[in-house]
Amino acid sequence: GIPKLRERYGDCFDIGAAVNMTTMETQRELLAAHFNSLTAENDMKFERIHPDEGTYDFEAADRIVAFADEHGMKVRGHTLVWHNQTPEWVFRAPGGGPADRKTLLARMKSHIDTVVGRYKGRIYCWDVVNEAVDDGAGAWLRRSPWREGIGEDYIARAFEYAHAADPSALLFYNDYNECHPEKRDKIIRLLRTLQAQGVPVHGVGLQGHWSLNEPEPDDIRAAIEGYAALGLQLQVTELDVSVFEFGDRRTDLSEPPAERMERQAERYERIFRLFREYKDVIAAVTFWGAADDYTWLDDFPVRGRKNWPLLFDERHRPKPAFWRVAEWGGLQ
Ligand code: G3I
Repeated sequence: GIPKLRERYGDCFDIGAAVNMTTMETQRELLAAHFNSLTAENDMKFERIHPDEGTYDFEAADRIVAFADEHGMKVRGHTLVWHNQTPEWVFRAPGGGPADRKTLLARMKSHIDTVVGRYKGRIYCWDVVNEAVDDGAGAWLRRSPWREGIGEDYIARAFEYAHAADPSALLFYNDYNECHPEKRDKIIRLLRTLQAQGVPVHGVGLQGHWSLNEPEPDDIRAAIEGYAALGLQLQVTELDVSVFEFGDRRTDLSEPPAERMERQAERYERIFRLFREYKDVIAAVTFWGAADDYTWLDDFPVRGRKNWPLLFDERHRPKPAFWRVAEWGGLQ
């Protein structure tokens, strides 16, 4: 039979997948077999769960939490405060124009209270703030409308509100490009600043949207070690590995050639060998999807071009990469 990832990695870390309302149906069996943690790909984001002031829609989020309960899975909450997928009303004053700091903090607090409070005890960790650090050279924090309206301390306030809403939830800061030394240093600076201020931050999420040739294993190691040195829980939160090299925008493939699948398998093998080395530091590895029939990379960076970035193919059969990830140490 096919080994189950959640069992193979039972002694190492949780194995998670991002889901949406479609994949929870179409990938139901695959999810139940291999994964013991779920993340909502979009359904817990501000625009989905809190589309208008005072209006919440928990239907999709509730279904994900119920699915996880039925199948003995954990749920990671994603995400409370982000510059993206947040409705415009949040940043607008009642009379028009930009909302002031006091209004924004009050809106942030009531969002966090309501969402975190609803899932208290059932969502064990939250990506409280997502992608707050700037990608460019120079600037430290991104020009998020949260920051424009509140100031740099919007990050600390978000963690405090989340902690008050569920004191037992593990609170994460989540970001990408963690393998670029400059960005990583800025992320680490942010986390150290929060820690020095006594802000309740418990974990750091390393997203892991990677390609066939990037990042180098040594840079991944440097990210893991840099984060581990903070004394926070570390999770890989959004792993996928495209069959293309970074920046390759070709559109001439209708299916991935065997040679690319093999290179992808080698990449995944190296990556998981590295993760296993740090199994006492990494608490969970979540893929940003479960199988190649649907992933956000079907539309990014090239619209309509697939990237086949996951361990299972479009018909949910294990790919070469699956076997490299599952068969380490020989099968019992
Ligand atoms: O739901 C609407 C639909 O009604 C509309 O017709 C359609 C037209 O474009 O758009 C649909 O919304 C899309 C949504 O995904 C649902 O599919 C948005 O355009 C699209 O931008 C959105 O993309 C999501 C993206 O976050 C937005 O930033 C991806 O699904 C989601 O995988 C991605 O996830 C992020 C993490 O949250 C944070 N880290 C990076 C990661 C990948 O970008």
